[in-house]
Amino acid sequence: MKTKAIAKANKNTFYISTPLYYPSGAWHLGHSYTTVCCDAIARFKRLNGYDVFYLTGTDEHGQKIADKAKENSKSPKEFVDGLTDNIKELWSVLDIQYDKFIRTTDDYHIASVQKIFDTLYKQGDIYKGNYAGKYCTPCESFFSLAQLKEGKCPDCSREVKDFEEECYFFKLSKYQEKIEILLKSGEFLLPDFRAKEMINNFIKGGLSDLAVSRASVDWGVKVPFDTKHTVYVWIDALSNYINALGYNGDNKGMDKFWGGEVVHMVGKEIVRFHTIIWPAILMALGLPLPKTVFGHGWLLLEGDKMSKSKGNTADPFYLIDKYGVDAVRYYLLREIQFGNDGVYSLEAFLTRINTDLVNTLGNLTKRTIAMVKQYFGNTQFIGYGSQLMTTEDNVLIENINLLFSKVEKHMNKLNCSLALEEIFELVSAANKYIDVTMPWVLNKNGEKGRLHIVLYNLLEVIRVSANLLLPFIPDGTKRIFECLNLNLPADFHDAKFNRDTKYEDMKDEILYKRIDIKKELEN
Ligand code: MSP
Repeated sequence: MKTKAIAKANKNTFYISTPLYYPSGAWHLGHSYTTVCCDAIARFKRLNGYDVFYLTGTDEHGQKIADKAKENSKSPKEFVDGLTDNIKELWSVLDIQYDKFIRTTDDYHIASVQKIFDTLYKQGDIYKGNYAGKYCTPCESFFSLAQLKEGKCPDCSREVKDFEEECYFFKLSKYQEKIEILLKSGEFLLPDFRAKEMINNFIKGGLSDLAVSRASVDWGVKVPFDTKHTVYVWIDALSNYINALGYNGDNKGMDKFWGGEVVHMVGKEIVRFHTIIWPAILMALGLPLPKTVFGHGWLLLEGDKMSKSKGNTADPFYLIDKYGVDAVRYYLLREIQFGNDGVYSLEAFLTRINTDLVNTLGNLTKRTIAMVKQYFGNTQFIGYGSQLMTTEDNVLIENINLLFSKVEKHMNKLNCSLALEEIFELVSAANKYIDVTMPWVLNKNGEKGRLHIVLYNLLEVIRVSANLLLPFIPDGTKRIFECLNLNLPADFHDAKFNRDTKYEDMKDEILYKRIDIKKELEN
């Protein structure tokens, strides 16, 4: 009953989250990847009329972080404060519009984690026992022998060690059947192949109860009724998704967003936590489940996962400073086929920017506006009736009108890279339309009526494409609307061919500077 009431109240809402990042070293492009994808999706949904809640934050407890702080001669809190400030700065320069930033060291979060633990203990879903088995210290996870992959940690492939400790267990085994049905539903975990992986690697062997406290870890949330134990980092971290909405507090965000459309975007190595452990906890708490967990691939650097420990990361601050925020956002959103791994190289990054942003989008915008100004001056340039239409015009206009629904279809599947492909297909088609219609010849021949139609159609391609590009490259698209001398659209209502747009006093500026790739690679 309670579940239904929550779902009903949540019409037209959209809640999207990134994982909570571990503040344990310098932030790299891999972290930016998930956050930029979620930002583009959140912006798209906002412009598409949804009431959006976009959550990100930091996962600050655990032995790994305490060790790092020690290495840096800092207290754990001092250490995570510095890195949390730094990631907020990164999100600011990357133009990320999140609605809330949660830290697992926030008081309200800690209080709720304790309440959740207490509730689950009192209702018998958590019990005290003894753990003896294998432990992966970097992942802070226990594994049975059957779960190991070639004797090593199934998540990170590192060595595991023997371990014995008194601890609290969560009755994960009780939810085995329900989790299996959920994973087989085909909707909960995307892309599809990840659900198969989960079933084969974890469900088939049977789910064991999960150790959810550590007596050996001090930097964490204390088990409220047995303070020599701290709550396992993953129970602490996963519950952020509801605590940020006021669970065990005013509950306002829960009433509004939980049970509506909820999407967790996570990297492939943490899919297990989000699609087995997290739904089981929610089931135990009697709460609705998220609609989708999307397990994306990794951004690789020369075949290796970028990671702080491997020290091979591309520095997003440096790239943004040097090539601009749109370059980094666009590259991350476009180059990596969502769901799969993608390989980062400076050359591919720079080539992508020159090809799409400079040559295709920037060129179309500057060239078109320059022609309008050259052939018609800077006074008002308005639409036309339905006279003198050619097949090229009709095809172009039809494609302008189809663009929104094509993009929306991909965005509903969280696929930013295909959405961008569609938009750039139209922009490229407009560049080709210039080659075919040859406005300079029309001008030379004095065919002003035809010239007017061609240039107006091109301006409409630019306007509609820029409207749809707003979620992805907010900086450049804002400048396009400044060049067109139009207000920034507040939604997608006008993302279609319009005969009555009034263009005047436009500016033919360079949107993106061409990069000398050879020179950059030599540096
Ligand atoms: N703290 C946990 C998540 C808790 S969520 C309740 C964690 N943190 S992490 O900092 O290690 O990773 C956070 C996210 O960043 C993960 O989704 C991970 O896949 C992502 N990435 C880290 N490096 C990455 C790449 N090189 N490429 C793409 N994503 C990567 O796990």
